[in-house]
Amino acid sequence: MILILIGAPGSGKGTQAEYLRKKYNITHLSTGDMLRENVKEGTELGNKANEYMQRGELVADKLIIDMISERTTRDDCKNGFLLDGFPRSLPQAEALDEMLLEKGLELEAVVNLMVDEEELVKRLLGRGRSDDNEETIRNRLNVFREQTSPVLDYYKEQCKVKDIDGVGAIEDIFERIIGALD
Ligand code: AP5
Ligand code: MG
Repeated sequence: MILILIGAPGSGKGTQAEYLRKKYNITHLSTGDMLRENVKEGTELGNKANEYMQRGELVADKLIIDMISERTTRDDCKNGFLLDGFPRSLPQAEALDEMLLEKGLELEAVVNLMVDEEELVKRLLGRGRSDDNEETIRNRLNVFREQTSPVLDYYKEQCKVKDIDGVGAIEDIFERIIGALD
């Protein structure tokens, strides 16, 4: 099974991905986590990406697409995967479609976690990652609105989107997601 989790910064993509990964026995691929790993290890990709991440801007599409293309060919993706934070621009969505077509794979659904902005800011300020300061959070929210919202429209046209109310207890939100997928 191939799933996409889409939602604003702080909407709970990573949190719900943990539950979904276990439930469906699929690999969780978070482009944010992969990039942070590269930054930590000081790889060429990490060095290129870090500045953008600290500002809350998107890292260049080509770098992200290459990273995901490589990662999804590994053995642990054979049973399917859950994309968290990818695609978040139209070129990324188009590249993913092409990639799946080439591999003869089909996207099951796009889970859209909907959370109001006040709640998002509250959650992120309470977390304390290095890109969780007020200025960067504001920019991440703008980038989501401007560059990632069109991705939702793109998948709505394909009738793949499941809208989920992302506010409430973590377990309740998870129940809503599996209810929408079954
Ligand atoms: P990324 O790591 O993807 O960050 P993000 O999209 O901003 O989202 P977060 O990971 O901050 O939030 P989340 O939705 O996973 O929520 P979480 O479960 O953690 O990307 C970081 C950066 O990398 C980007 O800005 C960009 O620079 C770059 N990047 C990544 N992917 C890219 C791509 N495809 N293209 C280009 N650049 C890319 O929850 C948040 C907090 O809320 C936690 O503290 C959690 O405990 C809490 N929480 C969760 N659920 C609930 C709940 N129901 N109630 C109360 N609190 C909750
Ligand atoms: Mg995350």
